[in-house]
Amino acid sequence: MHADRQPIIGGNWKLNPQSLGEAVSLAGQLRNRLGSQRSVQVVLFPPMPFLHEVAEKLRESELLVGSQDLAVQAAGAFTGAVSAAMIRSVGGQWVLCGHSERRAVFGDSDAIVGQKLSAALAGGCKPVLCIGESLEQREAGQTFAVVAAQLQVLKSFQVSQLQDLVLAYEPVWAIGTGRVATPEQAQEVHLFIRQQVQELFGKNFAQQLRIQYGGSVKSATAAGLMAQPDIDGLLVGGASLLAEEFANIVRFKSGN
Ligand code: PGA
Repeated sequence: MHADRQPIIGGNWKLNPQSLGEAVSLAGQLRNRLGSQRSVQVVLFPPMPFLHEVAEKLRESELLVGSQDLAVQAAGAFTGAVSAAMIRSVGGQWVLCGHSERRAVFGDSDAIVGQKLSAALAGGCKPVLCIGESLEQREAGQTFAVVAAQLQVLKSFQVSQLQDLVLAYEPVWAIGTGRVATPEQAQEVHLFIRQQVQELFGKNFAQQLRIQYGGSVKSATAAGLMAQPDIDGLLVGGASLLAEEFANIVRFKSGN
C-alpha cells in the first residue's frame, strides 16, 4: 500500500447466493458495517440478476457495485449477453474482466478479455483486469512471462482511456484453495506488474495504478498483504460472502 493510492477491496460473490432475498440481506449487512467508511474503496460484485437490487440497497452509502463479467457486444442479437450500458443502467460502475474462472471455465482468451476491456470502457464501466498464473506455470518458472503476456491486452489502449483501470493479480493456485500467496510472493509479482505497466505507459501512470491481490484472502491475512508497497487492494471471493469477515478484511488496519 502506498499513501498516494487509495486502497480498493472487491467482494466477488461468484455464483452465490442463490436467491435475491439472501443477496439483498448480505448487502444490508455490509452496508451496516461498512457503508460510511471512506478510507477504502469497496466494490461488491454480485451475480447479474441481483445487481440492481443490491445497488438500490447500497444507494447513498460509500459501497459501490460492479458486474463479474460483461459481453464484448454493445447491443443486438446476442442471446444471453449483458452489455456495459445495461450494467451502468442498473447501478453497476465497475466490471471484472478476465477473471481466471472466466478464462478457464468459459474460454475467455486474452483476445476476448481485451475486447471485454474495450466494451467496458466504451460503455462507461470501470474495469478490473484480472491476471495470474496457474500452479503448473508457477512451478515451471513461468509466472513473470505469463503475467507479462496477459498484460499485452493493454497495448491497444491509450493512457487516457485507462485512468480508472485497476489490475488484480490472482494466482490461480491460490483462488478458492485456501492456499494464499505469502505477502512476499505477491509483492514480487506486483512489483513486476508495475514495472511492466511502466514500460508500456510510463512512470506516472504506473505509480498511480492500483493493483489488487486475490486468492484465498481472509481477515487474518489481509493486513500482511496490504503492508506490501505494491499491493493496493484485495479481491476477495469466498470470504466476501461472510459479512463480518469481509468487514474485517476491509478494516485491515485499525482506524477505518
Ligand atoms: P477466493 O476468490 O478469495 O475465494 O480465493 C478470489 C477470486 O476469485 O477473486
